[in-house]
Amino acid sequence: MNKEFIHSISSAVASKEAFFTVNFGPKQIKIFFTEEACDWVWNYKYLQRPQALQIKSQLNSPLKINRIGLINYFYNFIMTDISILNSYISPTIKSVLDIGAGIGLFDLFLNQILDHEALFDLVEVDKLEEIEHVTNNPEHTKKLDHNVQIKPVAVLKKLMITNNAHNINIIDSKSINQHLQKRYDLILSFRSWGYLYDLDLYQRFVRKTLKPDGIVITDLSIYDDSIEKFSSLFNDVVLIDEAPNNKRFLGKNLK
Ligand SMILES: C[S@@+](CC[C@H](N)C(=O)[O-])C[C@H]1O[C@@H](n2cnc3c(N)ncnc32)[C@H](O)[C@@H]1O
Repeated sequence: MNKEFIHSISSAVASKEAFFTVNFGPKQIKIFFTEEACDWVWNYKYLQRPQALQIKSQLNSPLKINRIGLINYFYNFIMTDISILNSYISPTIKSVLDIGAGIGLFDLFLNQILDHEALFDLVEVDKLEEIEHVTNNPEHTKKLDHNVQIKPVAVLKKLMITNNAHNINIIDSKSINQHLQKRYDLILSFRSWGYLYDLDLYQRFVRKTLKPDGIVITDLSIYDDSIEKFSSLFNDVVLIDEAPNNKRFLGKNLK
């Protein structure tokens, strides 16, 4: 098992389950848990449950299973995202939009590795009844348990307050048009915009709010016309990563 991962688990035990730390170069990142954020991972990323249970048993860890689940999600997804994007993100960015931010761990992490304060807007839905379909790929479609209801905006707001991240603002997807005056250096969407739902949903907003020298990075479904649509928006489009159901693209210089 990765040494850094074990260190993060130990830090959570030492903090009496309040937070975990991650070493990133010369910086130490600290992320506080909330019960709701841990439950989001447990319910939404339920395919990862067996792995979390196995880690708990292998390490014989006293840490609560939903905390192990969150740290495991962090290492499996967020650390990978950071290492892929590190060379594309300018260290001087001042404004970031994350569409479909989940519990915003990427943003909490980026917020702490930047040497200056940037402003973040995270867009999420108020209520998630089911995990959206992966178009044309029913066997990869995930469903929430019947008795589970997820309220992403509320979960995010509480997690950002708990982490004292006053510069990370949460936007309910229904009120997006109240933010058309904003301007972003970086617009991100991991496994969300153009993958779980149509690119059209935020296309106008992105067109309006991306700075002329800003960049957009998003994961696009390989089962519909998302890649075509995205390519028609920008003069420069670069493929930066691939997953089984989607491809990660960077777009800049809007047409
Ligand atoms: C697969 S998760 C990705 C979460 C996070 N970006 C990550 O990569 O770990 C997809 C996210 O998109 C959000 N979502 C679904 N429909 C949305 C919409 N119409 N607008 C904004 N976010 C949405 C879901 O609530 C969920 O948090």
